[in-house]
Amino acid sequence: MTTIHAHQTVGEIVAAAPNRSRLFEETGIDYCCGGGIPLEEACANKGLSPNALIAQLEAMEAQADKDPRFADAASMGLIELISHILDTHHAYLRRELPRLSGLVEKVAEVHGDQDPRLRDLVQVFSHFVGHLQSHMLKEERVLFPAIQTIAESDRMPQLSIGSVAFPIGGMEAEHAEAGDTLTRIRELTDDLTPPDWACNTYRAMLAGLEELELDMHQHIHKENNVLFPRAIEYERSLNS
Ligand SMILES: [Fe+2]
Ligand SMILES: [Fe+2]
Repeated sequence: MTTIHAHQTVGEIVAAAPNRSRLFEETGIDYCCGGGIPLEEACANKGLSPNALIAQLEAMEAQADKDPRFADAASMGLIELISHILDTHHAYLRRELPRLSGLVEKVAEVHGDQDPRLRDLVQVFSHFVGHLQSHMLKEERVLFPAIQTIAESDRMPQLSIGSVAFPIGGMEAEHAEAGDTLTRIRELTDDLTPPDWACNTYRAMLAGLEELELDMHQHIHKENNVLFPRAIEYERSLNS
């Protein structure tokens, strides 16, 4: 974490770590075209204390060090792991996808003529969001409750879906599709690298997409490699 000073410009502060833009968006401080003024001046314009804002930025970064995304899934029971996935990854996607969609659309609108791939990115991203939303609903309404039911049973219960193994196959196929889309997003953005002329909104979009990719990789890893095989194994043990 780099030290933040009130005399640095808002643009510089965001350029050093683009995810800081999140707090500026929340406080309504312009970090993009109007980001050339010192933080203390931007805060004075909004009636905010620069020290309080710096403290918030630092707290945000310290929190990132104790990141629940990297929690040890293997040490959790089935029910605990499901709550962890819902609270950490599904909650993140519900919070983040609308914000990222807004950034992707804004960047394409402003810079689509300079790089037409930004318009393809809007299409790809909007399909991705739609698929993820329906994927999460299937997990939340069908698969996870079924896994919870078997986890609480010591004999195979009657499940409306017959077996947890069946929907798991479908979820794994959708995870593979999501992985392909993340690769496509990298292709459309030169591996998430900003061009020289990229403004801070553009950089914030790429930083957000990179974080999305990291979160999705952790999320899919916990489901494919820990939750799903364990649920199938437990179900098998109840059937034997
Ligand atoms: Fe999930
Ligand atoms: Fe999933």
